[in-house]
Amino acid sequence: MEIHTYEKVWLALSLVLIVGFIATIAYGASAGPGIDMIDDKGGTVDPATLDEHPKFGDPGIEKTGENQYDVYVVARQFVFEPGTSEPLRVPEGSTVTFHVTAADVIHGFEVVGTNANTMAIPGQVAEFTVEFDEAGEYGILCNEYCGSGHHVMEGTILVMEQSEFDSWYEQQEQQTGGEN
Ligand code: CUA
Repeated sequence: MEIHTYEKVWLALSLVLIVGFIATIAYGASAGPGIDMIDDKGGTVDPATLDEHPKFGDPGIEKTGENQYDVYVVARQFVFEPGTSEPLRVPEGSTVTFHVTAADVIHGFEVVGTNANTMAIPGQVAEFTVEFDEAGEYGILCNEYCGSGHHVMEGTILVMEQSEFDSWYEQQEQQTGGEN
């Protein structure tokens, strides 16, 4: 059987494409480009008793070290807590580890204009870390269809100057009796 030259060229090119696609995925899945895939390291929670959970019962920000913070977020039809009724506040120059879960159905949690993006699944905690270098405002969007109010489900992340954040945080601590 004779294979025409053009056919050989097309075969070779398709092979290059296939190998290229696989290489792209392998590169993206590795830590190489600084992309962190969401996996199961965040653990699980019981969505039915979320309100009694030590962290998700009163979600918000918690200082864990010098410039290090943990943020707990609950997504539910059709709000982010915190994020929707009040902005999710973080200080500039901080490293923030998000723990995101859902109370009812599957939601999305996307920080607009960044590569911070995860699904919020009832029972699962999505964990990922973001560095906020500059003060400013970011939008949060739900990007998984979650019901009639999906299109209005959004929130705000406010990256504040450190001193501003500190006084807000102190006030929070006092209000909640230091539980946070
Ligand atoms: Cu929540 Cu769409």
